[in-house]
Amino acid sequence: MDALLDAARAARDNAHAPFSGFTVGAALEDAAGRIHTGCNVENATYGLTLCAERVAVFKAISEGARNFRRIAVVADTERLTPPCGACRQILWEFCGNVPVLLGNLQGSTETLQLADLFPRPFDASLL
Ligand code: THU
Repeated sequence: MDALLDAARAARDNAHAPFSGFTVGAALEDAAGRIHTGCNVENATYGLTLCAERVAVFKAISEGARNFRRIAVVADTERLTPPCGACRQILWEFCGNVPVLLGNLQGSTETLQLADLFPRPFDASLL
C-alpha cells in the first residue's frame, strides 16, 4: 500500500467518533514530501464535527505548509469513502485538482481526481 494511504490508516486510529462510530483517517502530502495527517473529531452538538480531511488541511496550513500534491482517505467501508461536500470545497481551495486516494482496511484502493469529484467549483478566481 502507498505510504500516504498507510499514514491515513494510522491517523484513523486517533479518530474521536463516539456518536457515529464511523472513524476516518486522512493524510495530505505537501510539495516537500511531508505528510500531514488528520482524523475526524466529533462533538456532542454533532454540527461542530470536523472531518478527517479538513483536520489534515487545517493542521498543515497552521504549520506553514502550502502546495499540496495528494490526499489519502481511509475508512472501514467496503465501498470506498470519498470526502464529503464540505471537504471537497476546502480541498479544492487549498489543494486544487489533486489526486484523491481512497482506501479501506481490506486493502482496496482507488485514485480519483478532485475535479471529477467536485466539478465547476466556486473559488477565489470568481471573486
Ligand atoms: N467523515 C469524515 O471524517 N470524512 C469523510 O470523508 C466522511 C465523513 C466523518 C464525519 C463524521 O465524524 C463521521 O465520519 C460520520 O459522518
